[in-house]
Amino acid sequence: MTDLSAELLAWYDVHARRLPWRVPPQERRAGILPDPYRVWLSEIMLQQTTVAAVIPYFAQFTEAWPTVADLAAAPDEEVMSAWAGLGYYARARNLLKCARAVAAGDGHFPDTEAGLMALPGIGPYTAAAVAAIAFDRQATVLDGNVERVMARLHAVEEPLPDSKEALRAHAALLTPAERPGDHAQAVMDLGATICSPRSPACGICPWRAPCRARAEGIAAELPRKRAK
Ligand code: ADE
Repeated sequence: MTDLSAELLAWYDVHARRLPWRVPPQERRAGILPDPYRVWLSEIMLQQTTVAAVIPYFAQFTEAWPTVADLAAAPDEEVMSAWAGLGYYARARNLLKCARAVAAGDGHFPDTEAGLMALPGIGPYTAAAVAAIAFDRQATVLDGNVERVMARLHAVEEPLPDSKEALRAHAALLTPAERPGDHAQAVMDLGATICSPRSPACGICPWRAPCRARAEGIAAELPRKRAK
């Protein structure tokens, strides 16, 4: 594990957000992993929707349908009406397709990125997130938060989307073999709570010393975006 990842995990051990679908780092270190169904459901809901908005929907879904088999057996209209308000209804239709595909198989989510990618509605981001968080696979999760954190840490001045593969390479080099699920969630929490888009709280960041953008005084300017 790199020193960077060790510093981030030490921060996460203290500052991890308590989220309904999350198993806290203390429990994960004792060998407890979250239910893949809950991780998958939360990651689908969190696409284009904020954590605060997702929390009540996640509670309602897991109460009505505690397992993937329950969701697979639910009538389409019930699921679509429970989804109302979250928007992007294609996500809800794919959610049901995916639950039914899992239920039609052995009833378990695949534990690899490739296996997960073969399911309806699961792209590279969701496959990596579920593989890392639910199965502790050494998968690299790249979303907008992670891109911003990598752009700043390494002072990548090339604008998005051209820099995307460079940012992915930085993120992959940092992904540790130990605790990859906590690492993935820690980078996301850092991006959401400290390394925010407009006014990053560099003074309390676990990566304030190694951050190259901070050293150059350009953290809030990164990542740059290519003019449309
Ligand atoms: N945003 C998307 N997935 C997330 C996760 N697992 N934890 C925190 N924020 C997220």
